[in-house]
Amino acid sequence: MFHKKSIEQLLFEAGQSGEGALKRSLSSWNLVALGIGAIIGAGLFSLTGIAAAENAGPAVTISFVLAAVACAFAGLCYAEFASMIPVAGSAYTYSYATMGEFVAWIIGWDLVLEYALGAATVSVSWSRYLLEFLHKYDMSLPHELVASPWESVKLGDGTIIEGGMINLPAIIIVMLLSLVLIRGTKESATMNNILVILKVAVVLIFIALGWSHINPANYDPYIPENTGVFHQYGWTGISTGAAVVFFAFIGFDAVSTAAQEAKNPQKGMPIGILGSLVVCTILYVLFAHVMTGLVNYKDFAGDAKPAATAFAVTGYSFLQDALIIAILAGYTSVILVMLMGQSRVFYTMAKDGLLPKFFSAVHPKFSTPWKTNIFFMFFVSIFAGFVPVADLGHMVSIGTLFAFALVCLGVMVMRKKLPHAVRPFRTPLVPLVPILGIVVCVYLMYSLPGESWVRLFIWMALGVAIYMFYGRKHSKVREVIDEKIQ
Ligand code: ALA
Repeated sequence: MFHKKSIEQLLFEAGQSGEGALKRSLSSWNLVALGIGAIIGAGLFSLTGIAAAENAGPAVTISFVLAAVACAFAGLCYAEFASMIPVAGSAYTYSYATMGEFVAWIIGWDLVLEYALGAATVSVSWSRYLLEFLHKYDMSLPHELVASPWESVKLGDGTIIEGGMINLPAIIIVMLLSLVLIRGTKESATMNNILVILKVAVVLIFIALGWSHINPANYDPYIPENTGVFHQYGWTGISTGAAVVFFAFIGFDAVSTAAQEAKNPQKGMPIGILGSLVVCTILYVLFAHVMTGLVNYKDFAGDAKPAATAFAVTGYSFLQDALIIAILAGYTSVILVMLMGQSRVFYTMAKDGLLPKFFSAVHPKFSTPWKTNIFFMFFVSIFAGFVPVADLGHMVSIGTLFAFALVCLGVMVMRKKLPHAVRPFRTPLVPLVPILGIVVCVYLMYSLPGESWVRLFIWMALGVAIYMFYGRKHSKVREVIDEKIQ
């Protein structure tokens, strides 16, 4: 259970070419775009208004800064690992090198919550915006086919859809993007670049056009006084707001899953991870500032499409549709990168023998892990089609925070065990930064609802059972152990 992989072994495996290998086709720019592709999405376009209305008021900008600082601690740790061990499995691989096979398996299994369920969550939000768009033009789909059985959907004009049968648009987008991924990494990256340009453009247009329509009265007070309830406004509201908008930052670590496909991972990984985080933080703060300046924060209560509501104030109604289309495109890239990250993690786990070979099969022509893509096409579709979005979102947040905390811990372990290993990028102020990273992640996990903890526990218990019955017996590392824990 404690067998570890040496860095040399990991790099050797990653450097192998020929059949069964991934292609190195991504530039540093592609990697930054990959990060932005996974980051800007439902969190910004849907949750900003809710966090402002319920928790932080206009000071949701400060919530964004707090969430960004939390992610930066983890991001700095990811950057050290990703430049040091540029292999496809991300946090899974880092744990394999530092904390042994069992912890690695746990984290790989946990990443399913971040990537696969992350893709499912955003596909449900995608379906909501699509519905809104169709509704505007008096087009509608049968109610049974646009919502999962346990949730009600409120449309812009107040129409309420009470529990459907299946969320078909969410399933269709997952299926289409899985097919794009099978077609090739380069092709997927090109599509992602286009979608990223579109979504960054929409954020910039929103900021630029909205700025001159800001009503300063909406910022008075900037930090609304706490109502006496813990998370309603004031400083406790700002910190709860940070836990809510944390979702908006999830995805920067997906860059590290593409390490094996980066042309120059030593340089590209830190640039991709930290660069996308910095760009998104600046955009988020400006976007939230304009949004709460256009419309009073109280008016965003229960609004799942606050960006459209706020933009309506500017009077540029002809741009409304373009905004919704660009938001749909933006969500598309989040789903794309999440699905890609998921398949790369399972690919690596299967290469190590912890999962059946099926998951590491690479397509002879497209050089992509196509069978994994197909598997997750169905797996993610089930969640997208039948599970309410809030439950999905909480699972994604808790799973991601758990992974971040383990990566922070891993950096400290690695510094102790291999102090002299080559580190193209070094996390500053170790152990302070990783410790702060762990503290913040655990705090944010603590602020999530109790059910998410129960579900995390059940998912992990299932993972441990699979490891005991399958992974432990088929592990490849056992055959070539070159290192044992002392
Ligand atoms: N950060 C991603 C989003 O906001 C998951 O959609």
